[in-house]
Amino acid sequence: MRIENLRVNHVVNPVGYEIGTPVFSFVPAEAEGTWLQTARIQVAKDTGFEEIVADTGDRAELNPLGEAVEMELLPRTRYFWRVLAKSDAGDEGVSSTAYFETGKMDEPWASKWITVENEERDRSNPTFRTSFDVNGVVLEARLYISGLGIFEAAINGKRVGDEFLTPYCTDYIHTVQYITYDVKDLLNTAGDGANEISVELGDGWYKGRFGFEYKGDKGFYGDSRKLIAELRIRYADGTEKIVGTDETWTVSRGKVLYSNIYDGEHRDDRTGANPEKLLLLPEEECAKLPLAARLSLPVKAHGEIKPVELIDTPAGEKVFDLGQNFAGIFRLHVHGVPAGETVRVQTGEVLQGGNFYNDNLRSAKSEYIYISDGEDKVIEPKFTFYGYRYAKVSGMDEVITIDDFTGIPLYSDIPTVGKLTTGDAKLNQLISNIQWGQRGNFIDVPTDCPQRDERMGWTADTQVFVPTACYFTDPVAFYHKFLKDMRTEQSVRDGLVPNVIPAFGMPGTSSVWGDAATLIPWALYLWYGDVHILEDCFWSMKSWVDYITRTDGDNHQWRREFHFGDWLALDHPKNTKDQVKGGTEDAYIADIYYMYSAQLVSKAAALIGKADDAAKYAVLAGQIRSEIRREYFTATGRTTANTQTGYLLALNYDLSDDPERIYADLIQLLTYKDYKLTTGFVGTPYLMPTLTAHGDYRLAYDLMHNEEYPGWLYEVNLGATTVWERWNSMEADGSVSSTGMNSFNHYAYGSVGQWMWQTMGGIAPVESEPGFKRASIRPVPDYRTGFVRAEYASASGTWRTSWEVTDETHAKLTLTVPFNCSAEVVLPWAKNEEDKERTLTAGEYEWVIESADPFHTVLTVDDTLDTLLNHPQAKKVMLNYLPQIDQAPPEMRKRSFRELVQEGYDVQLLAKVPLIDAELRAL
Ligand code: BGC
Repeated sequence: MRIENLRVNHVVNPVGYEIGTPVFSFVPAEAEGTWLQTARIQVAKDTGFEEIVADTGDRAELNPLGEAVEMELLPRTRYFWRVLAKSDAGDEGVSSTAYFETGKMDEPWASKWITVENEERDRSNPTFRTSFDVNGVVLEARLYISGLGIFEAAINGKRVGDEFLTPYCTDYIHTVQYITYDVKDLLNTAGDGANEISVELGDGWYKGRFGFEYKGDKGFYGDSRKLIAELRIRYADGTEKIVGTDETWTVSRGKVLYSNIYDGEHRDDRTGANPEKLLLLPEEECAKLPLAARLSLPVKAHGEIKPVELIDTPAGEKVFDLGQNFAGIFRLHVHGVPAGETVRVQTGEVLQGGNFYNDNLRSAKSEYIYISDGEDKVIEPKFTFYGYRYAKVSGMDEVITIDDFTGIPLYSDIPTVGKLTTGDAKLNQLISNIQWGQRGNFIDVPTDCPQRDERMGWTADTQVFVPTACYFTDPVAFYHKFLKDMRTEQSVRDGLVPNVIPAFGMPGTSSVWGDAATLIPWALYLWYGDVHILEDCFWSMKSWVDYITRTDGDNHQWRREFHFGDWLALDHPKNTKDQVKGGTEDAYIADIYYMYSAQLVSKAAALIGKADDAAKYAVLAGQIRSEIRREYFTATGRTTANTQTGYLLALNYDLSDDPERIYADLIQLLTYKDYKLTTGFVGTPYLMPTLTAHGDYRLAYDLMHNEEYPGWLYEVNLGATTVWERWNSMEADGSVSSTGMNSFNHYAYGSVGQWMWQTMGGIAPVESEPGFKRASIRPVPDYRTGFVRAEYASASGTWRTSWEVTDETHAKLTLTVPFNCSAEVVLPWAKNEEDKERTLTAGEYEWVIESADPFHTVLTVDDTLDTLLNHPQAKKVMLNYLPQIDQAPPEMRKRSFRELVQEGYDVQLLAKVPLIDAELRAL
């Protein structure tokens, strides 16, 4: 047996993270047998496991998905752990040794917060320094450090660590994270042992303008940058040396004159280091900076992107095309620029008229201004990031070459766990767009977009995307930090969940956005099967629902409050280009999400042993359901919410007494729209799953393959390399539709990834055995897609599925069920009863399945009008020749197209029948 994926609190070998009661998880793999019989976790102070601090003993019920082990932890201490396990076939395994290391915990800091004079006037970055000697054999050296806004530390001129934008983005009133680095290898122990540490600070999220509530140059959280650092060196003789920030450090201001998340960076290399006065932060100010061990995963540079072209634009600009929209920084080789001359880099996502364009970034300048000292050098921003595909560089026109520029994607270091490949190149491009959308928006906080003057943790955007994120990557620890920040914000707002997390002073809330408090933990529980996620979040889930209940009062006030609703849907009666509201009544959506959140609180309570709460919130959910039915449904089951999203919610939350009627109404609305969606942030994730659940596979796949506006492949055809904010972010002629709110890297509509994994890949979690210990396997083959291969390294092991359509009625399917897991294979489209349902345990399987309906029907002019009009592409062919034909009465619809034409419906068309027939056959 191999035992893999050892994690503590879902992080691999965390150093200096907030640990609390550690939750251990692992994956038993490649074992003989079917089930895990026993497992045991041992934690020790040493790698030889002689000084054991915790040992669970062999236990049958030990949960590999998350086992909390109570133990006393000491500050700044490394613990080693391993897993010993045995399968039902007697196969035994011992994992390799993993570790975790505590931070300072409650230990007081042996250092002081320091700052610099004139912070309110001088924007240039301060750099703090001190020198120290190392004299002895160094066993260990750790740097515990935090600097606001963003710090970059160096020891003896070498960068400490490989992280960017530290100490990351939190609500700094309540949490200031410190980062722990192992710096042993950076120390100079040779000769006289002279060492120097320096730390430069930029504005970051703390000081600079960020969010909507900043005041001038003063950031929402603060206006003066500050630093605390503590270097601890442990010598072989048992002694310890501490180098901490205090009044003996020096400070100067230097080359970086200005830096800011939205606007970029300004650097003047003619400037030397100008000494400034160092200040100790007054006691009362220090008390306002609650230092806490990190939860943020490291933001790292992930590879490099070389430009595909250096464009000479019609406007005479030099623009690098990186070929991929992403978020990060760049490296620019500056050469041939005389001292005092300026090089300016600006970034944008799309070109317009072949020229550089960035009006959609609104007020974000998103630039880098560099004043040369005449030397050739490579420059790289450090205190900002950009969301871009194109970079315009001015000031080097005569000398610039394509090799001078390199894009560097930055994102939180989250393991990739899923790979989905199809037989359709455009769908594969969409899959890539979804993944890049996630990367660009996972820079410490799950943001809406990475380029314009927002880049904030908008709660709905990420809530709809969580399942998709969980298929492609393992984001639990990333969301763990976000959810902790959410709890912090709620704790000072009586349960209200602000629309963005961290809130940056923004006061509002809304249904669907705030419901992230229940929806995200629940999704993580389904995908990871770790009940501790629900324990951690229970207060937050419950207090959100309590907040709504209080607001709702006795007169349904909640539905009257402001809500964003089905954001960016296309069915608002006043459907202008830059409309943001959808056509589904906000109140209807708000009440349904209130009910669902109450249901989730009840389920979570039951799972963590809070029976009273489970009962209480189940009753509440029932009451809300009755109110919803009274307000928005007729006695016969029709609904007032006559939109695609309205019907989808009614069906998914089982609100109507006549779901068939509601479904028929949904299909009718779709036909009116020529089978195009009109849904926004709320409705979109339900659309294709609902059609699939009703057996309308072809309709669901039609939406996927649709290349016209609105749709995912419309974007792909227009060259998208990420997912857009609006269905119409770009018009068919390539022009940007509006600049008020229009990003080309917004992952919310990438939520379709969930359907792609569950229907194309056919892999979904099962609530009764979450974490993919049991999976629902329901792939639906599609003729146009050809084949799909899915590989998903779930929390319980690696699942693999594939299918390939081999002829008009057969598909070959394969499945790998990992060790210790089981599968419910459900194929309602299969012809033979025995193929429709199977329960399987670990193993590899392969079948050829016959479909009840052909995967591909060849349509001809001899098909009935009804058949042809019910087929989106055939309908288009029909309408092309007979624009009114969709209004034909029922009797006519029963006749074949050939008969109708021959009988004189349109004699002009007689000659064209063979041509139309060929067009239909080619579909
Ligand atoms: C953001 C969204 C967000 C929305 C809230 C926008 O400005 O970019 O994606 O959810 O506001 O309405």
